[in-house]
Amino acid sequence: VVLKADGLAAGKGTVVCHTIQEVRSAVEELMVNRVFGVSGERLEIEEFLEGSELSAFALVDGVHVLPLLSARDHKALLDANRGPNTGGMGGYARPSNATPELLEEIRARVFQPTVDAMAGEGCLFVGVLYAGLFLTRDGPKVIEFNCRWGDPEAQLLLPLLDSDLVDLMLACLEGRLDQVSVKWRDQTACGVVLAAAGYPEAPRKGDRIAGLNGVDNDVLVFHAATRAAQSSADGNGGTDFATDGGRVMTVVAVGDTLVEASHRAYANIERIHFDGRQYRSDLAADDTK
Ligand code: GLY
Repeated sequence: VVLKADGLAAGKGTVVCHTIQEVRSAVEELMVNRVFGVSGERLEIEEFLEGSELSAFALVDGVHVLPLLSARDHKALLDANRGPNTGGMGGYARPSNATPELLEEIRARVFQPTVDAMAGEGCLFVGVLYAGLFLTRDGPKVIEFNCRWGDPEAQLLLPLLDSDLVDLMLACLEGRLDQVSVKWRDQTACGVVLAAAGYPEAPRKGDRIAGLNGVDNDVLVFHAATRAAQSSADGNGGTDFATDGGRVMTVVAVGDTLVEASHRAYANIERIHFDGRQYRSDLAADDTK
């Protein structure tokens, strides 16, 4: 089963339990030791689903649904999906099994009925709708909805957007999504999260980050948990940074193929160092599954 704290837990309140002992310890942690405070007072117990995860996105103007590209995030801390669950360790856009047929099925069976039902309840949803899905043998199943871009999914999708985001957002606000289309670059993006020592249980702060100046100009480094640190003595004139939380940064490269994008992302993270740095080395390896 999967146990979830029924409240906000910074993306970390989900525990996948393979044995009854793991269930007991998760309940103890969440409900007795209250590691997430009141968020763990009530737990959801969900079916453990097997299949690959997919983060599907759509813009919604209350009535119309404009599907966007999808992405795959990897929530487990360690390679081969081992280790504790995290807020997301990176991934890639355009998973190859997110075929146009599957995305159409998700639009018709997930997004549109949700939007229609909300409208039917007089509660129009306007904005970015993110469906966290498992692609099971019985078809796509929804794990959760978020009313936002994902993290790191936003960092993977927005570099590929070829339309003007402001135009799309305006169409969304003005109820005209049926009159616009969205253009994407014919490429793919891979993003690797660099996490701090001790993440997710007790991320260490204050480790000096070196090497950001060596990153290729067209590789994107999204800072998430960094802070400006005292300037180093090397006189490079740039700002120095230190870690300041769990998921420190995401390094994103775009390429014509996923292999190219992931090679570039990994080549660039080799130039960025801080003590205790953690990252997954297999983010693009599951694309055919
Ligand atoms: N990537 C997971 C999330 O943003 O919730």
